[in-house]
Amino acid sequence: MSKILINGGRKISGEITVQGAKNSVLPILAATFLIKGECIIHNCPELSDVSVCLKILSRLGCDCLKENNTVIVDAKEPSDYKIPEELMREMRSSVVFLGAILGRCQKAVISSPGGCELGPRPIDLHLLSLEKLGVKIKEEHGFLYCEAPNGIKGAEITLSFPSVGATENIILATAISKGITVIHNAAKEPEISNLADFLNSAGAKIYGAGSDTVVIHGVSLLRATEQTVIPDRIVAATYMAAATVTGGELVLKSVMPSHMLSILSAFEQSGCDIIANGKSLKIKSPKQITRVSSIKSLAYPGFPTDAGPIIISMLTKADGISVFVENIFENRYRYIDELNRLGAKIKTEGKVAVIEGVQKLTGAYCKCTDLRGGAALVIGGLSADGITVIDEIHHINRGYEDIVGCFKQLNADITIKE
Ligand code: EPZ
Repeated sequence: MSKILINGGRKISGEITVQGAKNSVLPILAATFLIKGECIIHNCPELSDVSVCLKILSRLGCDCLKENNTVIVDAKEPSDYKIPEELMREMRSSVVFLGAILGRCQKAVISSPGGCELGPRPIDLHLLSLEKLGVKIKEEHGFLYCEAPNGIKGAEITLSFPSVGATENIILATAISKGITVIHNAAKEPEISNLADFLNSAGAKIYGAGSDTVVIHGVSLLRATEQTVIPDRIVAATYMAAATVTGGELVLKSVMPSHMLSILSAFEQSGCDIIANGKSLKIKSPKQITRVSSIKSLAYPGFPTDAGPIIISMLTKADGISVFVENIFENRYRYIDELNRLGAKIKTEGKVAVIEGVQKLTGAYCKCTDLRGGAALVIGGLSADGITVIDEIHHINRGYEDIVGCFKQLNADITIKE
């Protein structure tokens, strides 16, 4: 199993272009299943989750082609409406295919997506919404058998929580449908707007994406189109945290500062100087990181849960005690024990993490527990004195395109150890 090996303590500095957003490209790839003809997706990151998506699309009968950061998908004639269990297990977020398969085939079979490293990942909001749209759902032996015998019919849906995945599944299931669907308390993440922009460029009629009320006028057909994936705001935060915790200075190209306002505010509170200029952003780290008394993860535009591990790893070297409250996932702190192996002083109690700043971290062997927790260990290793070895790095490869190459480009002494 390959490992990441870091000889820490060097300033992370320089200029880097931020990859396309994992959480945008996955629903957009699912959306290509609705469209007969060649859809071209630009700025597609090279991630293991993207490879799994393309495997699923191929199994459903699509022609898929990937050249560097461009993907072409032609969902000409579906050959199946079932996602193989082994592919469902490879990527939990494959549940987003459910809406797209129902939208195209009016039936779908998926295995119940298990929990993941962040805790139980129920999909009750997805299923309740689909049932409102006329989908009959039967669960047997861990499989969900879904069918819309009379087609997908528009409905008024209020989500009890602004679930990103449920909002995406409703949009995917109703883009091609009869009638009008209204989603109240919809998720407002930028990735939802990127998905709606893609579908609208294919002829869909989706209004209000990015607000808490989304209206979809179902159409009968969508046509092939092109779309560019927005920059990944969590990957951007990852580079920023690495520069900050090592005393570096960084220019990020291809970012959308307007998608990162709550993240930028947290970095400014920790003493960073940040200059946003169109699609680039410059960050200068402080001599000493200031503690941030309280950060809470919330649905967008609040502080994103995915950036929690990133900011916590940075605050391990703040000048006092910082407090982070995780309000989105139940079990998002599994990486903390690993980060403490590097000399961090973090205590967790339920949703709360208390980070007592220390002068220095010391390299150690540690293991990734999940995607963003793994990124937190990389940040810790870059700031620690001595050698850090990070194992189970397949978690990181799900969401980061060539994290070792990128940090090498930013002056890190980092390699992959087979
Ligand atoms: C998406 O997950 C992202 N994944 C997550 O990123 C991100 O952390 C999350 O949104 C929140 O922003 C992708 O986009 C592929 P939710 P999703 O539905 O859709 C509960 C990463 O690291 N819930 O908004 O699963 C759920 O258990 C990943 O890139 C229900 O209870 O998030 C969680 O506690 C991690 N029932 C909360 O809501 C449901 O039916 C947020 O879930 C659905 C969700």
